[in-house]
Amino acid sequence: MMEDCSRRYGDMFTLRITHEGTWVFLTDPDAVRQVFTGDPRLLHAGEANIVLLPVLGSRSVLLLDEPEHMAQRKLMLPSFHGRRMRRYEDVMAEVAAREIERWPLGAPVSAWPTMQTITLEVILRTVFGVDEGERLRRLGDALRHVLSWGTRPQRLALLAMLGPRRIVDLGVFRRVLDQSDALIYEEIRRRRAAPDLEERDDVLSLLLQARHEDGSLMSEKELRDELMTLLLAGHETTATSLAWALEALVRHPAALARLRDEVDSGEDAYLDAVIQETLRLRPVIALVLRRLTEPMEIGGRLLPAGATVAPCIYLLHRRPDVYPDPRAFRPERFLEQPPGTYTWIPFGGGVRRCLGASFAQFEMKVVLRELVSRLDLSAARPQGERRVRRAIVFAPQRGGEIMAARRERVESPLTAAAA
Ligand code: HEM
Repeated sequence: MMEDCSRRYGDMFTLRITHEGTWVFLTDPDAVRQVFTGDPRLLHAGEANIVLLPVLGSRSVLLLDEPEHMAQRKLMLPSFHGRRMRRYEDVMAEVAAREIERWPLGAPVSAWPTMQTITLEVILRTVFGVDEGERLRRLGDALRHVLSWGTRPQRLALLAMLGPRRIVDLGVFRRVLDQSDALIYEEIRRRRAAPDLEERDDVLSLLLQARHEDGSLMSEKELRDELMTLLLAGHETTATSLAWALEALVRHPAALARLRDEVDSGEDAYLDAVIQETLRLRPVIALVLRRLTEPMEIGGRLLPAGATVAPCIYLLHRRPDVYPDPRAFRPERFLEQPPGTYTWIPFGGGVRRCLGASFAQFEMKVVLRELVSRLDLSAARPQGERRVRRAIVFAPQRGGEIMAARRERVESPLTAAAA
């Protein structure tokens, strides 16, 4: 439908959506730049993301605007600095290697459940800082239950009808959430009392030591809401992007062979390009939202206060004037030209750009490296997979179905890099 609209109406078009109001889609890089560099007082993302309130809670960085948003973002930024990702590499590689060793060989298998297991455990260990077997299992089970609650179509319909603020008080929803909240609060209190708090690297331990501008520590409610935010924003998105990467690679044997050769020789450039091309062609989030608090001229049109502008990742990434042959999976395009700030926007942009962008790309690299160095991969069927909606993401219909055989020469990429 988005493609039909852009063909019929051009770079900018309006949809009036039941329960959502007026959304103005933007697909032109100049208009997108205007939004991403615009005054955050006029462009409210928190207000536009209100649908996430029941799970994330009112102190989530995704739901705040203006000074409150910036204050919360500043507290969280240091945990996601590119350099810090190196510290998480060992955990990512260990979890990925263990799951890949268990991969069923010689039969069609959907990659997505394994990718989900990997990304959930990586978040629980690097963000929540939980690595003891029993605690990890209990927390993992409770959070999986919360995340799967909202994915059924009838529950999404209920959410839309009642509105996010009324869902919060719904008994059935509270029971699901209370269980995982109790475990999260328990973890926060245990960690606050941990004697090695200052030496720890996980995000929760860093947030427990972070201070607001007035010197105060983050409250338990703030910590709980940010942990849920990082889980929801970072887990399914990364797992699904990995499934899309595999879905594309097994249908492009030349790209897969090149990737494997480069990974074997300890190179990273093509691996980066494969990830960038996957996030271009198969963005898991189709658009980002900003609600206008005042009338604003965007793309040469005056838009009223109250309208929501939607820089459309999906359509912008398929513009033939920006990406020649846009439907083709061609990682080489990013070796020829690096991604542009306002033309490659899988992580949104401006002061709301995804906090976990480096984390996600780093994790994708580690997992893909482990996969191609341990397994020979091929397509289970010739035709590509259709896109389906799963909760907040666009996912491959069969979860990235692939066939795998053990590679003859198995060498861990970490060993290769060290050599
Ligand atoms: C491939 C994986 C991912 C994709 C495609 C993705 C995409 C996005 C997008 C489109 C936004 C909204 C940006 C905007 O409104 O301009 C966002 C926000 C956010 N993401 Fe991600 N994300 C991914 C992984 C992660 C990970 C791994 C984490 C953390 C562990 C994370 C944490 C966040 C947070 C905290 C925000 C809110 C930022 C703010 O409002 O200031 N994301 N992400």
